[in-house]
Amino acid sequence: MAENIESHLVEKRVFKPAKGFVKGARVKSLEQYRRMYRESITRPDKFWAREAGELVWERRWKSVLKWKVPFAQWFAGGKLNVSVNCLDRHLGGPTRNKAAILWEGEPGDKRALTFQQLHRDVCRFANVLKRNKIRKGDRVIIYLPTIPEAAIAMLACTRIGAVHSVVFGGFSADSIRDRIADCGAVAVITADGGYRRGAIVPLKKNVDDALHGGTSIKRVIVFRRAGNDIHIEEGRDVWWHRELEYVDAHCPAVAVDSEHPLYILYTSGSTGKPKGILHTTGGYLVGIYSTMKYVFDLRDEDVYWCTADIGWVTGHSYVVYGPLANGTTTLMYEGAPNWPEPDRFWRIIEEYGVNILYTAPTAIRAFIRWGDQWLKKHDLSSLRLLGSVGEPINPEAWMWYRDKVGGGRCPIVDTWWQTETGAIMITPLPGAIPTKPGSATLPFFGVDAAVVDEKGNEVSANVGGRLIIRQPWPSMLRSIYGDKERYKKQYWSEFKGRYLTGDGARRDKDGYFWIVGRIDDVLNVAGHRLGTSEIESALVSHPSVAEAAVVGRPDELKGQSVVAFVTVKGSVTVSTSLKTELREHVGIHIGAIAKPDEIRFAEALPKTRSGKIMRRLLKEVASGKTVTGDTTTLEDLSVLAKLSAEE
Ligand code: WT7
Repeated sequence: MAENIESHLVEKRVFKPAKGFVKGARVKSLEQYRRMYRESITRPDKFWAREAGELVWERRWKSVLKWKVPFAQWFAGGKLNVSVNCLDRHLGGPTRNKAAILWEGEPGDKRALTFQQLHRDVCRFANVLKRNKIRKGDRVIIYLPTIPEAAIAMLACTRIGAVHSVVFGGFSADSIRDRIADCGAVAVITADGGYRRGAIVPLKKNVDDALHGGTSIKRVIVFRRAGNDIHIEEGRDVWWHRELEYVDAHCPAVAVDSEHPLYILYTSGSTGKPKGILHTTGGYLVGIYSTMKYVFDLRDEDVYWCTADIGWVTGHSYVVYGPLANGTTTLMYEGAPNWPEPDRFWRIIEEYGVNILYTAPTAIRAFIRWGDQWLKKHDLSSLRLLGSVGEPINPEAWMWYRDKVGGGRCPIVDTWWQTETGAIMITPLPGAIPTKPGSATLPFFGVDAAVVDEKGNEVSANVGGRLIIRQPWPSMLRSIYGDKERYKKQYWSEFKGRYLTGDGARRDKDGYFWIVGRIDDVLNVAGHRLGTSEIESALVSHPSVAEAAVVGRPDELKGQSVVAFVTVKGSVTVSTSLKTELREHVGIHIGAIAKPDEIRFAEALPKTRSGKIMRRLLKEVASGKTVTGDTTTLEDLSVLAKLSAEE
């Protein structure tokens, strides 16, 4: 195991927070960070009660944490409403007239919504939900582009205590259908279409296909975005703008229990079926409120831009809820970074005077490839702080980000976390923690992270191992929706009572964490999480396929690319057109992001005598390496020779 999660980086550069930055920072020194961290670990009740006390509660909690491994209750006995904390709470002072959302569509259309306007829109749409018989606790699928209505729909659900499940606009009809079935959703909120690289993504059509043949969905609310022709199913589908004609802007918020479900977000795991990660209300809100405030070192006047799509957890925690809970202006952009030209991001930063940019390493590597000339055309001097998320950032990309985007003056916060953790877990605090290119540095307050060996013992400095979390934290997932057993088994059983992240890591002599990436059967392709077995089940559902094994291959741009080894059924002849067909097939089953970059037909797959596919070997074959290490358990050695010769 250890050799698989060894990280071979030897990175010596250290960047101390600049004096000018430290002066205005919330946490100003390593000593102050350590003091606060120590309190957060030894007296979590005290620490989190103070953070929670900055939010609005309809009824105060009775206990900060009740922990019965592995089930946590945070702020039990408390009652609150998320939309009140993101909106109403800012209406009493000058924040009322500040931009809550600055939005730009891919075609170049623009909108700005103040906190007051957003509040009004959320109240009206919450009344639309009620009018359409959506009640507290009901599950609602949101399948929208990154437009203000996505935030409005999410917040409107929270206002009435409905539970949203946002499905990324790049996912296919089959994926929508699976998610509806898993959570028993009663309504879908979608748009006619969305823009992507100048083309229109037929969102409503995908929803129609998903609902074909009947599901639990009773209502579809359609926002007019792209103006493309769509089918309206009488009695089921209604237009968003029509519905607004029937409602007013008065909608009292429903205060819910702290542990009331807030949302379900599906993510890939090590089986063929995506997991519905369940987040609840009080702890999640406290977690994202607090991380947002400290990690991005927020100031009242900030324009903050997180480039994530609303369909990922980053879009939930750090496009919508985190910024709004803090009264921060959040910028949303609908489209691709290279549309119409590769300077779209830099253009936006200049035009809106963006102060904080939070993006993904895969985007940074693409910018490097497109060339510095695109940045040079724009004034990026408004930037104060840069963030990275989604995958390990290589030191070269880190340095480029710092020098070229940040002009050498902006700290970089490389933030490690997961859909399951809800909020940032390992990260620099920009005024306090010196950074090293490629390291997520130290744990956030209340996060008891460690690197352990197979037996669960902490390893010594610079030895690779598994990354685990030893104490519950407020924004942690509460379960996998509808499957407590899987939740227990997946996250808490390998090391009893400890949360298994699925990532490999090492700590250096300063205690800094260096995340190596997934060590389970999960791939990270361009910052998107994909389960190998999910893609495998899509492939074997094709009539020509007998067996499939999917592995990741290191990719300069995307971090990892998807390589599929496929054996076909006896009568089938392999061809290039079959490859194309299989890629399309995966696109239909999951979505375009999961299409294999390469498909290799094989006569057989390398297996152990007990029938387990030897992925390690396939990984080596996929990356063009000669196969090394132990092959003694391989059942048929000739398989390996044939695979390598396939090229
Ligand atoms: C996986 C979680 C967190 C929101 C976006 C992804 C990888 C994430 C980092 C980072 C190294 C990272 C991990 C993790 N990851 N951030 N800063 N450094 N790796 O959420 O889809 O749940 O994926 O992304 O492998 O387990 P997700």
